[in-house]
Amino acid sequence: MKGIVLAGGSGSRLFPISKVYSKQLMYLYNKPMIYYPLSTLILGGIREILIITTPQDADSFKTLLGDGRSMGLNFQYAVQPKPEGLAQAFTIGKDFVGKDAATLILGDNLFYGNLDFFKNALSSHAVGAKIFGYVVHDPERYGVVEFDNKGKVLSIEEKPVKPRSDYAVPGLYVYDESVVERASALKPSARGEYEITDLNRSYLKDGLLTVQKIGRGVAWLDTGTPHALLEANNFIGSVEQRQGLMIGSIEEAALRSGFVSAEDFMTVINTYPKCDYTTYLRRIHHDVIAGK
Ligand code: G1P
Repeated sequence: MKGIVLAGGSGSRLFPISKVYSKQLMYLYNKPMIYYPLSTLILGGIREILIITTPQDADSFKTLLGDGRSMGLNFQYAVQPKPEGLAQAFTIGKDFVGKDAATLILGDNLFYGNLDFFKNALSSHAVGAKIFGYVVHDPERYGVVEFDNKGKVLSIEEKPVKPRSDYAVPGLYVYDESVVERASALKPSARGEYEITDLNRSYLKDGLLTVQKIGRGVAWLDTGTPHALLEANNFIGSVEQRQGLMIGSIEEAALRSGFVSAEDFMTVINTYPKCDYTTYLRRIHHDVIAGK
């Protein structure tokens, strides 16, 4: 299973904060935003990850994340020349995905809580697409999925004016090996984008789409507007302060997923500056060794 983080987009709803640099490089409480979706993929057991960025921010992402090797990961990079839609991730990432299955996560989506819903989707994945449904109060801002009373998917619509349900589709998608071919066959929508909803519809049409509802114990936040960004910051700050545990640390995720040995982990951490993040990772190292 390959992973893709899509961190393109113009972040226009965050203008002027997004004028100089990509929103996925902005901080969310105490880490760059992209750390959160990356750590979700890593906790799901995915170590080969393509990071798709805007051309102007590509170097900054590389400076931030490198090739991932010191943490047992494999980060590769590609650019999306223009924000022409999420499904374009698979035509841009064609060579990277090759003949494998692939999971896409959006660089501004944050998941917190028990990730079993995602891990189960990955482990049970065979043919088709697996996406998720999450109840929100403002479904018109998202892709919306409609179910019949037996839970069968009836339709998916992108930002409908009159949503047929409260179930939004989060920016986390698990696809089989046909994804590149399907994405290549898509035509741009009325707003000129290769829509992820059209890719999902292609699976739905073939009876190959599963939408798993995410229960109430999981938080899914997006950070598309200034207020959503503020709320996400406050949320992460509150949970981390209360528990003394961090959300979205790539290093911790790599260690807990067994991608890096405790020894190699420490070698990397020893190069970090003296700060709360480093102190935290030393503690995690200690806990993991102690079997906690
Ligand atoms: C995109 C997708 C939408 C999905 C959302 C999740 O919308 O088009 O289907 O529900 O991400 O964050 P965007 O926020 O890029 O407009």
